[in-house]
Amino acid sequence: MRVLNGTPFCRPPDKSCSLISYNLPCIPLEEQVIFPTVTKTRKCIMKITVIGAGNVGATTAFRLAEKQLAKELVLLDVVEGIPQGKGLDMFESGPIALFDTKITGSNDYADTADSDIVVITAGLPRKPGMTREDLLMKNAGIVRDVTRQIMEHSKNPILVIVSNPLDIMTYVAWKQSGLPKERVIGMAGVLDSARFRAFIAMELDVSMQDVNACVLGGHGDAMVPVVKYTTVAGIPISSLLPAETIDKMVERTRTGGAEIVNYLKQGSAFYAPATSTVEMVESIVLDRKRVLTCAVSLDGQYGIDNTFVGVPVKLGKNGVEKIYEISLDQADLDQLQKSAKIVDENCQMLESAGV
Ligand code: LAC
Repeated sequence: MRVLNGTPFCRPPDKSCSLISYNLPCIPLEEQVIFPTVTKTRKCIMKITVIGAGNVGATTAFRLAEKQLAKELVLLDVVEGIPQGKGLDMFESGPIALFDTKITGSNDYADTADSDIVVITAGLPRKPGMTREDLLMKNAGIVRDVTRQIMEHSKNPILVIVSNPLDIMTYVAWKQSGLPKERVIGMAGVLDSARFRAFIAMELDVSMQDVNACVLGGHGDAMVPVVKYTTVAGIPISSLLPAETIDKMVERTRTGGAEIVNYLKQGSAFYAPATSTVEMVESIVLDRKRVLTCAVSLDGQYGIDNTFVGVPVKLGKNGVEKIYEISLDQADLDQLQKSAKIVDENCQMLESAGV
């Protein structure tokens, strides 16, 4: 069987076909398998907005378009020209990358009207030496304002929050939006788990695909990489690697964001954050019901109440469709509660500052 990489060819073979004069393949219809266009013909009907056309927002928007996850994609930023330029640039890659997503760059929230999903990446990035919490006040104001404007134009969107400090910004967006808790979801567990998985794959020289990791808690230095549920093809990493090596990888995962910030000097990571965000959006758009670690509001699970923190959830067309409460060793549970307490204290601080 012949596999064609989406190139034009005549069907059925026809001597008068102009492709022959260009020496392009002429293959009988029954031998033709069009690849990878087949996977790109899925009809997506959703409208997705990405707020913030910086590195994370633009990379997220581009990957969403490439995966054809939206019929309409709006990239919005306060800076004039940037979303329009980046949006048009992305759109012009469509004929080559084979997507039909209509991409609009805009500074006007009216263009986001009736979005099904809104990804919020707006906010200042971290600078070297700055913790995610340092960003708190500034970004809370931005996220609150963004959410208010989104809700003026879309009735019942699902919000995916990427702005930092992540768990607290998810709370701010939820509070401002008035949406049910299952429709406001923070991104970072997928990112933190991906970092842990990448380090394990690198250490063991195995395919990333076979590594599964569980990283719970807030997206901060107190996050909880749970070694007991981290496996390679089902084999616990504790039986594949010495404890000191695992400890080093756990620490590297916790400081994974800062490691990139220190290299870049300006701005923070964006390829892995954007890819993680798209994985979540894909599960919602396609109702895949992936089980992913996301920041969601807990209601007594793990002894945590009314706080957004990363735990495994089922993501489908309705947003968070189930929260999994898994059994944890006491040390991990303590660390998860400590991490949640930091998130909660920061939310309280915002409340009392009236932000
Ligand atoms: C990081 C930032 C995006 O972890 O929080 O890279």
